[in-house]
Amino acid sequence: MADGVASKTAGRDGGIVIEDDWPGYSLDLFTYPEHYCGDLESVYIPHGVIMDRTERLARNIMEDIGDHDIVVLCVLKGGYKFCADLVEFIKALSRNSNRSLLMRVDFIRLKSYLNDHSTEDLHILGGEDLSVLTGKNVLIVEAIVDTGKTMNTLLKHVETFKPKMIKVAGLLVKRVPNGVGSLPDYVGFEIPNRFVVGYALDYNEYFRDLNHICVISEQGKMKYKV
Ligand code: HPA
Ligand code: MG
Repeated sequence: MADGVASKTAGRDGGIVIEDDWPGYSLDLFTYPEHYCGDLESVYIPHGVIMDRTERLARNIMEDIGDHDIVVLCVLKGGYKFCADLVEFIKALSRNSNRSLLMRVDFIRLKSYLNDHSTEDLHILGGEDLSVLTGKNVLIVEAIVDTGKTMNTLLKHVETFKPKMIKVAGLLVKRVPNGVGSLPDYVGFEIPNRFVVGYALDYNEYFRDLNHICVISEQGKMKYKV
């Protein structure tokens, strides 16, 4: 993880920046599951754009650490789509190059959100024995980073297993008021402080079955509130 400012100046790129006034695309321009009709405001990032950006992140990652075997640590549940697609792109690049990359994929499950708010206590649920990370090059793959608190807790946890190197790939980084302490090394998109769903990101476990990243509507929030 790089320091916020430094990674923007010295790093590769801070991701595609989506400005505060971006309203998203009209829902009428795309398809999405009928059961979410009325529960969404707009298509914020279409699925195809997510895929194209992920392909480029895979290239950046390969250029940096493609010479080493890596352990991919997928942060569930929200990270499963991004992680699966990222791993596929990395595999394709590895096939088409003359280096063969050994990749392991492991999982860790975190939970900190209720409705659209972060709760104070972060739970690291179940998952595998992370002693497999000791001495390895670890790529943590996370769907969204906002306050950075979750990421800091996770990094501290992973560090206790003494990996050789830790890099973080985050599909989304949210611009929040009390900003992040640290940013992912690889960022897909920097987005405004809005609650988004889809592409495995949930609102109380709903909307993971939506391909695009969308903004949830007030009706959607009411309907799936707990
Ligand atoms: N959507 C879904 N899950 C999240 C978000 C979000 O905007 N921010 C943090 N967890
Ligand atoms: Mg969630």
